[in-house]
Amino acid sequence: MRLPGRLGPLRSTPLAARPPGRVRAGPAAGRRASARGRLGGTMAEEAKRLAACAAVDKHVQNNQVLGIGSGSTIVHAVHRLAERVKEENLTIVCIPTSFQARQLILQNGLTLSDLDRHPELDVAIDGADEVDSDLNLIKGGGGCLTQEKIVAGYAKCFIVIADYRKKSESLGERWKKGIPIEVIPMAYVPVTRALTKNFGGAAELRMAVSKAGPVVTDNGNFILDWKFDKVHEWSEVNTAIKMIPGVVETGLFIDMAEVVYFGMEDGSVSVREKQPR
Ligand code: A5P
Repeated sequence: MRLPGRLGPLRSTPLAARPPGRVRAGPAAGRRASARGRLGGTMAEEAKRLAACAAVDKHVQNNQVLGIGSGSTIVHAVHRLAERVKEENLTIVCIPTSFQARQLILQNGLTLSDLDRHPELDVAIDGADEVDSDLNLIKGGGGCLTQEKIVAGYAKCFIVIADYRKKSESLGERWKKGIPIEVIPMAYVPVTRALTKNFGGAAELRMAVSKAGPVVTDNGNFILDWKFDKVHEWSEVNTAIKMIPGVVETGLFIDMAEVVYFGMEDGSVSVREKQPR
């Protein structure tokens, strides 16, 4: 099990020895990139696709149980996965992190399962809203942080895919919407007060766009977006926030990611790997 935070020895599927840095995307990815460019796909969308293809090609093998994240970047990973499953006749079982991920798995003809049947995953792949230089993440822009953290937490290896806009040195440099925190609805007011009293900043209840009232998560809860006003020691703050009664989970993914693939503006893929301690 992969525990969030700096709590335990967490081994993972070994990566082939390769220094972090930029890798060229494969020839097929390159061809698709230029075709997509001609068709007018945006640079960020293409960067997401390059990162997703690099991660799926590197980490997915036959007979694996895979965690499927949520958001827009993971869509590209599922497409590449479906392509590989078909071309290579792979046997892969997929565990979703949201309603969206479940639909993606089904729509792409992949095998859907759950944590009851597969309580340990080989690899989980997911997007992120921001990644700092220590591979700490902010997640939950799409409101799926709790299931995402559960699935990543029970994977031997957690891989992140993102475009160049998510790459930062310090959390908050790029992502300005705050850290998503899932809360039990009846507690959102006292949790908001406790957050700002203990840690400063401001917390806002996330409101729905095409519905009156708040966003309701796949778990029937609310989301607070906590806009912090200074850089914290994220591991400590994460643990402390989780102790507030009514908090279900935070969008801080501390020391969980093994490697992050960033699709870059120049068509390369930049790789950040966890540094050995
Ligand atoms: C979902 O709640 C999030 O954690 C997403 O994984 C994250 O917001 C990345 O989404 P995009 O791939 O759409 O940027």
